[in-house]
Amino acid sequence: MSVSVLSLTRPLGSVSGLLQVASLLGLALLLLKAAQLYLHRQWLLKAVQHFPSPPSHWLFGDIQEFQDGQELQKLQKRAAKYPCASPRWLWGSKVTLIVYDPDYMKVILGRSDPKSHGSYRFLAPWIGYGLLLLNGQMWFQHRRMLTPAFHYGILKPYVGLMDDSVRVMLDKWENLIRQNSYVEIFEHVSLMTLDTIMKCAFSYQGSHQADRISQSYIQAIQDLSNLIFSRVRNVFHQDDIIYRLTPEGRWNHRACQIAHQHTDRVIKLRKAQLQEEGDLEKVRSKRHLDFLDILLFARTEDGSSLSDKDLRAEVDTFMFEGHDTTASGISWILYALATHPKHQQRCREEVQSLLGDGTSITWDHLDQMPYTTMCIKEALRLYPPIPGIGRELNKPITFPDGRSLPKGFQVSLSIYALHHNPNVWPNPEEFDPSRFAPGSARHSHAFLPFSGGARNCIGKQFAMCEMKVAVALTLLRFELAPDPSRVPVPWPRIVLRSKNGIHLHLRKLP
Ligand code: HEM
Repeated sequence: MSVSVLSLTRPLGSVSGLLQVASLLGLALLLLKAAQLYLHRQWLLKAVQHFPSPPSHWLFGDIQEFQDGQELQKLQKRAAKYPCASPRWLWGSKVTLIVYDPDYMKVILGRSDPKSHGSYRFLAPWIGYGLLLLNGQMWFQHRRMLTPAFHYGILKPYVGLMDDSVRVMLDKWENLIRQNSYVEIFEHVSLMTLDTIMKCAFSYQGSHQADRISQSYIQAIQDLSNLIFSRVRNVFHQDDIIYRLTPEGRWNHRACQIAHQHTDRVIKLRKAQLQEEGDLEKVRSKRHLDFLDILLFARTEDGSSLSDKDLRAEVDTFMFEGHDTTASGISWILYALATHPKHQQRCREEVQSLLGDGTSITWDHLDQMPYTTMCIKEALRLYPPIPGIGRELNKPITFPDGRSLPKGFQVSLSIYALHHNPNVWPNPEEFDPSRFAPGSARHSHAFLPFSGGARNCIGKQFAMCEMKVAVALTLLRFELAPDPSRVPVPWPRIVLRSKNGIHLHLRKLP
């Protein structure tokens, strides 16, 4: 007994002994982690065994798909070759089933699976747990509370505000083309859509398209969009503490601070204004309640108001969702029309016959431009502003063809691949607005720019109004043509951007 105690305490007493024990423990932990990862990989392999996919590396997964800038083309090839869905490995122990089939989409969007924790959680430091990231009962309560803010009675007067913001942008373009008739439009359109959401949802007065705060907010959003997208795919950036220590993590933190400064300012100003205006009834009698009023006056079932954290999350969510998506939509629609002059001209003639040459646009005009609406939809099909969304299965799922996946599996609904799937859309790369002609038949889940089911886009009507106003007024003022030396390269981020911007040639119409 005494011998064995001695032999144990001697090595422990020395530094090298401690190091030996520590390295043994480290090795054991490493082996344990490796075994865990191995078993997890086996579980994942078994889960996807009935879903064929391109060969992937056991450690690096399908990383090369993201690295050569050909991600969207590779997605299209998958959709053409592997029916309905195929697994994509981010690395050896992380896989997601990419779905691009309408029947599959229908089954998934008809359930109530939460958003994929693995990717959406990286948005939380920026937009917090607002409507986009919430799940379960909290999501339901917030959705019910915010739905009235998108009632058509509220949207109607917004059309005038949208008209004002678009005209400010078009005036700017008119000045710019005196020096150079080629304009990179994405940034201008982003400033315009930010201006619009600030006026509509947050009742901001005047135009903010030239102010520096808006410009730095737009830049911060673009940075965050890139950083979050890269983080999802980087195995070393998954842990929050480690990520914060990396240059990207610090950049992400700074960009969040800039975005929050902008939204904090909006909330602070409104709280001060409401203190002067008094209670809900007094405010209601003076002006219509906007989105921010609804949030500030909202009461939960137990009668308490939204916490400052929840309020900021909703403001950050709507500030981002309410402008970046529509900026992408409008920019790509204008590009699609620039590259299809005949369709462009037909839309222009439709708008001219409706509005003459200068009258401002109203709510009632918006459903009197069927051909322009068809072109907008066709552009949203080719360039869906949100290229993909994700869910984490909260119970096993069986698809209509009998294949199934277990609870806990991550699925990625690729709106882009669905819209470019040749099995769903014949000649998918062709811009053909007649696909959306009245009476044309298609699967209920073949066209999903705004997603579908209970968690579809709450801002869909708002977005459609804004896109119609922007397209109509732009076509009345300019003839659009592409810049042959700078063809945009679609770039899937949180929203669909172009890697090299969207450059158009603008000619002022007489
Ligand atoms: C062309 C413009 C737009 C497109 C293509 C679009 C698309 C989408 C999509 C695909 C989703 C589902 C996201 C997911 O499941 O993760 C979504 C959700 C959402 N959108 Fe939009 N959106 C647009 C404009 C807007 C606007 C203008 C607003 C606000 C004013 C908005 C607010 C939201 C919110 C809050 C959600 C989360 C809804 C929920 O989960 O209940 N969106 N949008």
